Amino acid sequence: MRRMVAQHRPHPADLILPAFVREGIDEPLPLGSMPGVVQHSRDSIRKAAVEAAEAGVAGIMLFGVPEEAKKDAVGSPGTDPEGILQVALRAVRAEVGDALVVMSDLCLDEVTDHGHCGVLDARGRVDNDATLARYAEMALAQAEAGAHVLGPSGMMDGQVGHVRRALDAAGHQDVALLAYTAKYASAFYGPFREAVNSSLTGDRKTYQQDPPNAREALRELAQDLAEGADMVMVKPGLPYLDILRQIADASPVPVASYQISGEYAMVEAAAERGWLDRERAIDETLTAFKRAGADMILTYWATEYARTLRRG
Ligand code: PBG
Repeated sequence: MRRMVAQHRPHPADLILPAFVREGIDEPLPLGSMPGVVQHSRDSIRKAAVEAAEAGVAGIMLFGVPEEAKKDAVGSPGTDPEGILQVALRAVRAEVGDALVVMSDLCLDEVTDHGHCGVLDARGRVDNDATLARYAEMALAQAEAGAHVLGPSGMMDGQVGHVRRALDAAGHQDVALLAYTAKYASAFYGPFREAVNSSLTGDRKTYQQDPPNAREALRELAQDLAEGADMVMVKPGLPYLDILRQIADASPVPVASYQISGEYAMVEAAAERGWLDRERAIDETLTAFKRAGADMILTYWATEYARTLRRG
């Protein structure tokens, strides 16, 4: 009877798998702070994409990890057609075609030697408008490599509109934008820094949102919609379910929630110690996103969880 009356239930078609692809490796490299997650090689990412599609997962979000020596102040690997993210996009599209929605992270932190999400001015501060110009160039490189959806995640003001205009002008009207609408400066990104070999020292508090503030998330929503966002996201997940609910109630476009690296690590670490029931905890957290109004969920458990759902 509980099964019959359950109000909210995730479906494999709600799930998006975030995945890391590292340049210059032949075998996938396990991540110490995210047990079960790897940095993929060019071959293993194709396999992971096929497995996700076969499990019924809807999409994959790719992050590129270039060779250290290629990172520079402006993030050159982000616009090089041979940059690892573009290479991975082409490889995954060639493998799965349209069987998965293929998405890419549109941000500079993975490709800059200082690790910030933007380019810096002479005083070492992130330069918003100079960064927009780089995002436009990256967007074209990713669209040309075959991405269906771009995820601008750098939290620069005006990024959605700027990228939209650049895509349209180049004939990429069909490439959609998943706006990182409410992205908070969170401690829970910790393990991600290992996953992308981040070069960051310091924090992102001058461009990501402050955890005590809810109202500004709605302001970000209004701006992203006016700039042409096709979908919007709230991030992190669990600590921001209230924000997710408010955005879901206010948004006329689909809403995603991103269960980030630290949330994944928290459950895996506790489960490893026998402190909580891993499968139940995964199911409960993912169900909570649906209950709070998410249409789509980015989770590192996407493939495993989709299989579990299919088994019933
Ligand atoms: C920025 C980006 C980050 C994440 C996704 N895109 C890191 C950050 O903003 O510091 C975090 C994802 C996670 O922690 O799982 N490119």
